[in-house]
Amino acid sequence: MASSKAAAAAAFGLKDASLIKTQGLIAGRWVDAKNGSTIDVTNPSTMSSLATVPDMGLEETKDAIAAASKAFETWGKTTAKHRHDILMKLFSLMQQHQDDLARIITLENGKPLAEAKGENTYSASFIEWFAEESVRIYGEHIPAANPSIRNVVIKQPVGVVSILTPWNFPSAMITRKLGAALAAGCTAVIKPPAETPFSALALAELASRAGVPEGVINVVTTDKGIQEVGRELCENKDVRKVTFTGSTNVAKLLYRMSASTLKKISLEAGGNAPFIVFSDADIEQAVEGAIACKFRGSGQTCVCANRIYVQSSIYAEFASRLADKVAAFKIGDGLEESTTHGPLIHGRAVEKVTSHVEDAIAKGAQVLVGGKAVPNTNFFKPTVLSDVPADALSSCEETFGPLAALTKFETEDEVIKLANSADVGLAGYFYSRDIGRVWRVAEKLEVGMVGCNTGLISQAAIPFGGVKESGLGREGGHGIAEYMNDKLIVFGGI
Ligand code: SIN
Repeated sequence: MASSKAAAAAAFGLKDASLIKTQGLIAGRWVDAKNGSTIDVTNPSTMSSLATVPDMGLEETKDAIAAASKAFETWGKTTAKHRHDILMKLFSLMQQHQDDLARIITLENGKPLAEAKGENTYSASFIEWFAEESVRIYGEHIPAANPSIRNVVIKQPVGVVSILTPWNFPSAMITRKLGAALAAGCTAVIKPPAETPFSALALAELASRAGVPEGVINVVTTDKGIQEVGRELCENKDVRKVTFTGSTNVAKLLYRMSASTLKKISLEAGGNAPFIVFSDADIEQAVEGAIACKFRGSGQTCVCANRIYVQSSIYAEFASRLADKVAAFKIGDGLEESTTHGPLIHGRAVEKVTSHVEDAIAKGAQVLVGGKAVPNTNFFKPTVLSDVPADALSSCEETFGPLAALTKFETEDEVIKLANSADVGLAGYFYSRDIGRVWRVAEKLEVGMVGCNTGLISQAAIPFGGVKESGLGREGGHGIAEYMNDKLIVFGGI
């Protein structure tokens, strides 16, 4: 075991090799699956094996929940200042180890190192933000009609939280939830994705170095899917809240499972973001915004532009400028300095992008750049398609890949209708310099978040979340409230 641990650590080439953990974390102990089974985690750039982690199941999940439940008895009673100080220590450790943490993200997710460093900064910002929120959890005094009573509301942590996260942000999607949970006084069981467990395990190690007590954070690594581990995380009576980021289909399943015990739930599900460029926009800014928004994580984020609508009078110029810039991208291994864009996470993702591109072409779209997968790899050439029709697959569902699908429109009313035709509504973007239009369009888009003259909206301080089938609840910002219960105390006889 010692030598395989050493080999795993060597595969990552970190300055601090002890950040690579190849076991799950339950009740403060690094443990294997009880039946010894493992998941082989591969580097999506090279498709070679990085290391293994345990493939845990129901038993380990129950143990992790029991550990979190026990730890809540003490962690839930700590002072906000105590939790603030520990979280700030974790924030500082994440900065101190940023090179190693970014390298782990690049190796398991594939995104280029510079982008991985950006993710680590984003990830750490949630820990800092919620540390600062923890000491500002205020209650309320509510004036009573009866002069002899007083109404007071206090805020209490909900208890054990199940955290289920995706592979596209192996670190930041965890801290957005974990930061809020710990700050509120909750304990957690994290189920990281099977594709990218090492960032979660490294975060748990740093949290322990920062002083987070045993059992407060538990990590169950698994490839068993939703029906076994996910179900327990949603149905176990000792879990009081479920928080998930991922696809709309899985979000619906978890919502149904969590209904059995009426748990508090936050779901950040899929998007299909419209990106609208009006004729009065600054075209260069809009092109830059489209690139940042569409190709972040090689198109694998829930807030990536998915449908790019450009007004007819500037369509040709926008399309040609965008295509020129995308043609200059360099796909490759994220550890190479010259790489601008990494691979997709796995072959299934490549198949989906391929099917969207082929479908759009069959329905009349033209390829301006790219249009093909790189055979026998997880890479898909960054692609720009023009004249993508409204009934193309890429117009109707999230592609989650490096495909910029352009569609021409004539009027504001027409494009608003197109933009709002989706069942989901996470983010939407538009470029315009007409102040009246800016307000009108921002108010009319059926999404939870609007980027106006920017393609990047993500920050720790904002209420992140969607409407329609993009989910429930908001994370970041005032999101700590989702991890607390209001308790009313009425004082009588005054
Ligand atoms: C996501 O893709 O789910 C999150 C993206 C972000 O936080 O910017």
